[in-house]
Amino acid sequence: MYHILTLNKISPEGLHLFDRAKYSYSAEMADPDAIMVRSANMLEMELPATVKAIARAGAGVNNIPLDACTQRGIVVFNTPGANANAVKEMVMAGLLLSARKIFPAMEWVQTLKGQGDEVTKLVEQGKSKFAGPELQGKSLGVIGLGAVGVEVANFAENFGMTVYGYDPYLSVDTAWKLSRTVHHADNLRTIYEHCDFITLHVPLTPETKGMINSESIAMMKHGVRILNFARNALVNDEDILQALEEKTVRCYVTDFPDDHLLGQPGVLATPHLAASTPESEDNCARMAARELVDFLENGNIQNSVNLPNVTMCRSGDLRLGIIHRNIPAMISGISNLLSEVGANIENLTNRARGEYAYTLVDLAGEIPAATLDRLQQIDGVVRVTAYR
Ligand code: MLT
Repeated sequence: MYHILTLNKISPEGLHLFDRAKYSYSAEMADPDAIMVRSANMLEMELPATVKAIARAGAGVNNIPLDACTQRGIVVFNTPGANANAVKEMVMAGLLLSARKIFPAMEWVQTLKGQGDEVTKLVEQGKSKFAGPELQGKSLGVIGLGAVGVEVANFAENFGMTVYGYDPYLSVDTAWKLSRTVHHADNLRTIYEHCDFITLHVPLTPETKGMINSESIAMMKHGVRILNFARNALVNDEDILQALEEKTVRCYVTDFPDDHLLGQPGVLATPHLAASTPESEDNCARMAARELVDFLENGNIQNSVNLPNVTMCRSGDLRLGIIHRNIPAMISGISNLLSEVGANIENLTNRARGEYAYTLVDLAGEIPAATLDRLQQIDGVVRVTAYR
């Protein structure tokens, strides 16, 4: 029986994928094999020794202690693309809201309540205060062309915008999906200098933290509108507030409000709402559940953010999944030990990612239980799991 601890409310669409004959799941569980999480903060959580995998139903993983997980051989998954459509739609709303003063206009029009027959006249008299530009013909810079960024870039062209995309880590899969008319920016300066609207779609890392600051803003077009549906700390609050005051930035749309930003002129804030649709919650939960099932039952790793992605069709009788340091002689150490006990390797695959690597070995027949312990003792091996 596999035990899954759920740290947030996970859509039943995902939970139903766990076969109840083999899996139990609950929000209370002492010794889970795996954890499913949405936005719960796990950074200070003491992870039980039994945990082998964590699946984040969503894209961002800054609520999970990645380095500690990697060192312990805990595979962390996310669900790239599962909520991309929901976020894209919200970014489109953000673009319109930042240009057309829709929100203050709606607030104002409510103040006319009680003016009887005068309302129609007052509406016509007052509306000019809320005029704002069209998107058609304006330029949009998309920083980060992952699952969400590509959808945003492609869709914005339907508004008649000229789109610039920047992503030094663009994957081949994503490149295939990107519209050919999106301009390729090979540096951020190009985005900053050309774009009337800039939208962020990068993960929060030490490199991207505070990337929108007074220095980068100084390179941008006067009156630029900035959208942040990625993570709060990508933007330096103090610097953006100063730029809004000086009107060098016209509007800051953020899905990550904090106390400094609330109530400030030019800030349009939503409560981390971009992915909150029933469709995306279902998609994320389904993808996260499938990732866990394939890992717990077959040792396959797909969409991991901390260990190599390795999948292999099952062959033979016994599979070993070995997470180890990415150092010389690991494969020979493993295969020598297996040949010592007469095990016949049917299939083997190995991939590295930074300081760690993952080896899947399919064997014909069984091996003595003590061999698993000896594999675990090899210097550099972090975790050995047997799959039958
Ligand atoms: C994500 O990281 O997927 C989005 O910000 C939505 C979420 O946190 O669930």
